[in-house]
Amino acid sequence: MLDILKIKDDFPILKSSPHGKKLIYFDNAATTQKPTQVVEAVADYYKKYNANVYRSPHYLSTLSTESYEEARESVKRFINAKTSESIVFTRNATESINFIAYTWGLKHIGEGDVIVLTIAEHHSNILPWQMVAEKKGAKLKYVHLDEDSRLDLDEFKRTISEGHVKLVAVQHASNVLGIINPVDEIIDLSHRNGAKVLIDGAQSIPNMKIDVEKLGCDFYAFSGHKMLGPMGIGVLYIKEDLLDDVPPFLSGGEMIDEVFEDHSTFAPSPLKFEAGTPNVEGAYGLIKAIEYIEGIGLDNILKHEQELTEYALSKLVEIDYVKLYGPKNAENRTGIISFNVLNVHPHDVATILDQDGIAVRSGHHCCQPLMRYLGVPATVRASFYIYNDKSEVDAFVDGLKDVRKWFR
Ligand SMILES: Cc1ncc(COP(=O)(O)O)c(C=O)c1O
Repeated sequence: MLDILKIKDDFPILKSSPHGKKLIYFDNAATTQKPTQVVEAVADYYKKYNANVYRSPHYLSTLSTESYEEARESVKRFINAKTSESIVFTRNATESINFIAYTWGLKHIGEGDVIVLTIAEHHSNILPWQMVAEKKGAKLKYVHLDEDSRLDLDEFKRTISEGHVKLVAVQHASNVLGIINPVDEIIDLSHRNGAKVLIDGAQSIPNMKIDVEKLGCDFYAFSGHKMLGPMGIGVLYIKEDLLDDVPPFLSGGEMIDEVFEDHSTFAPSPLKFEAGTPNVEGAYGLIKAIEYIEGIGLDNILKHEQELTEYALSKLVEIDYVKLYGPKNAENRTGIISFNVLNVHPHDVATILDQDGIAVRSGHHCCQPLMRYLGVPATVRASFYIYNDKSEVDAFVDGLKDVRKWFR
């Protein structure tokens, strides 16, 4: 059991009172709030260590470089990468996926090749592959969901065995339905069929112990801001044996070995992948976010999310004007629930809940292909994290009753 009161106390923003009401923050899948430890780390970086990295031998530059490299080590350990050379800092998961599309993708995917995605992918894991497919004459194939709204593994098996698959790009967990995909099996099947695998870990990194060595994936992408860290810092993991096969994405300062008038050579990875001045304070804040998450324990976090999901589902299934999307139990899913209130637009639901201080997201959640597949233009999404509790779920369910009253 998490000590929610103690955890809440670490998050100053949770003391705010929107519209005079106590804040209930259920928009964690969009971004999590930040504990004091992270907020202070960012301020500390500027108070104590700020200087540009790598460029100068002076005291502050050394401290700044050490902070940045400490962050890389911390991420390496957090996801159990074999080497810190595999850890590339980006701005976010979106940039990490685009990175691989523009580099490895354009280099290795060719005419007639297939890229396999799932219908539940976030636009960030669709558009970069549409770009590659269009430029290289490759084909996109989507795997759909089964009757329980989980990934249809049989369809995946059929698709991968049809041949020509160069890449499987799949989310670890869905930002709409919360379903956790069987990525071990997907990676194994993909590799056996000669395809590389990119995992979009944006929704799994906050709540699941990720072991990239054990998973064996080729690329893993995530954002710091969804796991208590600062905005503007993301991570791209590249498997060690692919490091030389991935060309640089951006070019310029910091990433070179030698520059001549007509050509240049590059620094070894990860520097060859990080052109320009990086987000050092973001990386430094991420160290504290990792420490915070590890202090609670990822198993405990997922368990807590599932308990809240189970509790919320048990209440929502009782309400006849609420239509739920996704599996009807919390098994093998994260703390995300998508639903609609019959005959009420999701934006209206979110606006009315906001009057009660309850922050939820409404819209297509950057998953328009999934929305079309579900037959809706939009949903309301409540997403839970470590500082949420059952009393907040109760208030949220009461809020939905108010929504209904308004629209009667
Ligand atoms: C599954 C998934 N993938 C990718 C992203 C993109 O993350 P970011 O906006 O941090 O790049 C998100 C963000 O919501 C997401 O939920």
